[in-house]
Amino acid sequence: MKKTIIIGCNGQLGTDCMQVLDGADGIDFPEIDIADRFQCLEKLDALRPAVIVNCAAYTAVDACESDPACWKVNADGPKHLAEWAAANQAFLVHVSTDYVFSGDKPLFEASVETDVTGPVSEYGKSKLAGEQAVLESGASAAILRTAWLYGANGKNFLKTMLRLTLQNPGREFKVVNDQFGSPTWSHTLARQIAAVSEARATGIFHATSEGHCSWYDLACAFLEEMGVEHHFAPCLSKEYPTPAKRPVNSILENARAKQLGMNQFADWKKELQMFVTQCGDFVLKEVEVI
Ligand SMILES: NC(=O)c1ccc[n+]([C@@H]2O[C@H](COP(=O)([O-])OP(=O)(O)OC[C@H]3O[C@@H](n4cnc5c(N)ncnc54)[C@H](OP(=O)(O)O)[C@@H]3O)[C@@H](O)[C@H]2O)c1
Repeated sequence: MKKTIIIGCNGQLGTDCMQVLDGADGIDFPEIDIADRFQCLEKLDALRPAVIVNCAAYTAVDACESDPACWKVNADGPKHLAEWAAANQAFLVHVSTDYVFSGDKPLFEASVETDVTGPVSEYGKSKLAGEQAVLESGASAAILRTAWLYGANGKNFLKTMLRLTLQNPGREFKVVNDQFGSPTWSHTLARQIAAVSEARATGIFHATSEGHCSWYDLACAFLEEMGVEHHFAPCLSKEYPTPAKRPVNSILENARAKQLGMNQFADWKKELQMFVTQCGDFVLKEVEVI
């Protein structure tokens, strides 16, 4: 048994993991339902992976506020995977989020892996419960907390801003300028997952680009990199109310990966430039046909 299996392989991160992790197999809902303990364990018994990479999650942050199903996927799901990994000596890489923190740290202090958690949304609470289940399972496991993910595949903030701008030339769009985080390219995160997995490094890892910015800074930087004229205007979070509360300071520091000499991430602007160079045309075509 030497196989790596990517769970959630059709999602934004899962698609990049399939490209980056050599020889990995992929599976996604409904072929596997990580929320369903019996079906999930039965599927893993059939596949017998040596490494499980869990990219599957209930990621609609606002919907989580009113849909208890997020707990089944984000808390029970990793618990089931960790149960199987512990019983079968498999290595589990589980992906988590900056939203396990309250975001109340003074600006612009970054959170490290050992900082106290305190999620302020159902999404963050359910993801933290998933982390705790993995840590308590006895499985050999790594938890990678990422943030503000973007990639070529799937929905994300960058594609939304590009589409809105192209469909409404000249129109002004307000973008939140008082939440700060570290935008992260899913392709580099997949490389970080590969590095952690190859080293069988265990415990919690922060896994985001270096540096930080606001959503407004990110939207402007992306459209400028794409060579698309925009009319974004900075606004406050209170002008754009959402069902889920978001952390104000979501900045993470990859302290453990740096200590172990395995940090894969460059500065967020450099990462964004690489993303546009490699995937800009692809994203533009996708956005233009929607
Ligand atoms: N996106 C972000 O900005 C962000 C930020 C911080 C952390 N993260 C974390 O990063 C990871 C990857 O996120 P992503 O953006 O790649 O998510 P994504 O694009 O939403 O992909 C999630 C995948 O999981 C699948 N899935 C959902 N429920 C499932 C279930 N019960 N059993 C099996 N598969 C299921 C989804 O299938 P369906 O499409 O059929 O539902 C989808 O293919 C997640 O752990 C997320 O919490 C994301």
